[in-house]
Order: sequence, then C-alpha cells, then structure tokens
Amino acid sequence: MTMLLHLFLLSLGALVCGGSNQGGDDSLLVNAIVGKNNISMVECWKIEPGYQVSNVSGTVGDKVLALGNIDNAVYIIIPDDDGKPNNGGLHNGAHAQWVFALTGGVNVTFPEAPGGFTVNAGGLFISSDVLGNSTLGHQSIWAAGSVFIQAPFPNGVVTNHTVIAHHSCEEK
Ligand SMILES: *[C@@H]1O[C@H](CO)[C@@H](O)[C@H](O)[C@H]1NC(C)=O
Ligand SMILES: *[C@@H]1O[C@H](CO)[C@@H](O)[C@H](O)[C@H]1NC(C)=O
Ligand SMILES: *[C@@H]1O[C@H](CO)[C@@H](O)[C@H](O)[C@H]1NC(C)=O
Ligand SMILES: *[C@@H]1O[C@H](CO)[C@@H](O)[C@H](O)[C@H]1NC(C)=O
Ligand SMILES: *[C@@H]1O[C@H](CO)[C@@H](O)[C@H](O)[C@H]1NC(C)=O
Repeated sequence: MTMLLHLFLLSLGALVCGGSNQGGDDSLLVNAIVGKNNISMVECWKIEPGYQVSNVSGTVGDKVLALGNIDNAVYIIIPDDDGKPNNGGLHNGAHAQWVFALTGGVNVTFPEAPGGFTVNAGGLFISSDVLGNSTLGHQSIWAAGSVFIQAPFPNGVVTNHTVIAHHSCEEK
C-alpha cells in the first residue's frame, strides 16, 4: 500500500513538474509554508537531489524526482457546499508535509507576512508551519469540491531542499 502510493506520488510529481518547474531543468521548485520566529510565510524551495532519468520499467526515460518517504498520507475531499470556497480559517500545518492538489485548488495567505501563493489542480506545495513554530499559522481557501492529498514527512523532518527565495516561486 505504502509502496503503491509512493509510486503514484512519484508519477504525480513527474506529471506536474512540467508546469511547476520554472527555475531550470535540474529540479522542482515548490512553494513551502514555513514558520520562522513564530511567523508563517512562504519560501521557494528547490527539491534536492534533483531530477534523474528513470530506469524503471514503465517510465524508462522519464524525468523522476525522489520525494522521499512519507508517513500516513491522507486523501481529503472538501465539501461542494453549493460552490462556495472553503475557508478553514487560520491554522498551523497539522504535520510537516507535502500537499498534492488533485482537483480544485487553493489560495494561501499569511496574517503577519506579505505575499501568498496559489496552487491549481495538479500542483503541489509543502506545509511545515507546525504548532510551536508559528503562532497564528496561515489561511488556506480551497475551491469547493477540491480533492487533495496530505503526505507527512516521517518524524516531521522536511525533505532535502535549497531555499531559492524568501517569497513564492512565482513572485519575481
Ligand atoms: C514562539 O512562541 C512561543 C509561545 O508563545 C514562545 O514560547 C517562543 O519563545 C516563541 N519563539 C520565538 C522565536 O519567538
Ligand atoms: C538510471 O541508471 C543510471 C546509470 O546506471 C544511473 O546513473 C541513474 O541514477 C539511474 N536512474 C534512476 C532514477 O535510478
Ligand atoms: C538528504 O541529504 C542528506 C545529506 O546530503 C543525505 O544523507 C540524505 O540521504 C538525503 N535524503 C534524501 C531523502 O535524499
Ligand atoms: C520547528 O522548530 C524547531 C526548533 O527551531 C526546528 O528544529 C524544527 O525543524 C522546526 N520544524 C519545522 C517543520 O520547521
Ligand atoms: C484564488 O485567487 C484567485 C485570484 O485572486 C481567484 O481568481 C480564485 O477564485 C481564488 N480561488 C479560491 C479557491 O479562492
């Protein structure tokens, strides 16, 4: 089961990288919500190590990025609620984790930091402003009916990365 999800996530990662990789060919750039000095904000992370060429039967020649291990991932369905966006209010990240938007999408903003970011269907981000690392957390407004996966990092240790910018990957 774990392995199947892992493989699925790897192919999902490969699928979306075309749209999200804006900083050259070598790795995926991803928006990461971080808690610094108790304030949540976004950073642009380059995932390390970068893309490799797959030798695995079924994906030979495709670009693959190791997402590392994940722990107790969950699949979440936002209610349709007559098409009204779903505002979960200010909250901390439940775990340090990947978030994969399968359908719908989300706008993330911060009460004490400028900027924010949007993730559309098929995109992904990292949330790591867990309790104790951020006082107020962040706000996520998901489109009605969105379906997404939260995939926690084992032991709360975030994936290897380089911080590319102290703002979203889209902001210039
Ligand atoms: C963060 O907030 C907690 C709880 O208010 C406090 O104990 C801690 O000292 C704060 N840390 C920083 C770096 O401000
Ligand atoms: C594929 O094989 C090459 C050569 O053996 C190796 O360098 C590369 O890391 C392999 N790629 C993956 C994704 O395992
Ligand atoms: C993360 O980087 C460290 C140090 O380079 C390495 O030992 C470790 O295997 C890496 N982890 C992953 C999941 O790539
Ligand atoms: C939370 O803060 C602690 C102490 O600074 C740090 O070791 C840990 O990596 C932080 N966790 C995350 C997910 O940022
Ligand atoms: C996210 O923000 C964009 C731009 O303001 C807006 O068009 C979109 O409807 C918002 N999505 C949600 C789910 O609130």
